Amino acid sequence: MKKLLFLPVAGMIGLLFFQATQKPEVETYPELHSLAPDMPANVKAVVDQKCYGCHNAESKNEKGKAKLDWDAFESSKKSKQLAAKGKIREVLEKGEMPPKKFLENKPEGKLSEEELSTLLEWSGGKKKSTD
Ligand code: HEC
Repeated sequence: MKKLLFLPVAGMIGLLFFQATQKPEVETYPELHSLAPDMPANVKAVVDQKCYGCHNAESKNEKGKAKLDWDAFESSKKSKQLAAKGKIREVLEKGEMPPKKFLENKPEGKLSEEELSTLLEWSGGKKKSTD
């Protein structure tokens, strides 16, 4: 009897465990992807989720938009892209983005260690852990 009960229970646990380990699909913005075909997918995913909201052509965040517009990024000249990357690396290394005030109300907007190193690597900076 005990063995017969064990099987379905083990199956249920196995199923739950399987579901818990499945990574959810990363939500993406098609506009950014078509405009920035050269950006690695993992970088785009981080930018989409953590930066794009304030830094895009239609952003209501006028200051953020003026400083960095991801929609214009890929279509701009290589020299401009390089300069923008330099700025991005700078703010990331100083921990200035996303802005502290914004994170007070939206702590989930913070970059994880992994996301931070993805962006740092892409922008030409060092990984935080090797600093
Ligand atoms: C809540 C809105 C918001 C988010 C999210 C955000 N930014 Fe910004 N960003 C701003 C604002 C506002 C400024 C202008 C700051 C200023 O001028 O003082 C700015 C400025 C910048 C600048 C220009 C800095 C300079 O001095 O020229 C860079 C580069 C930048 N952000 C990169 C990023 C990156 C990378 C992310 C994602 C990790 C990000 N931002 C997320 C609002 C945001």
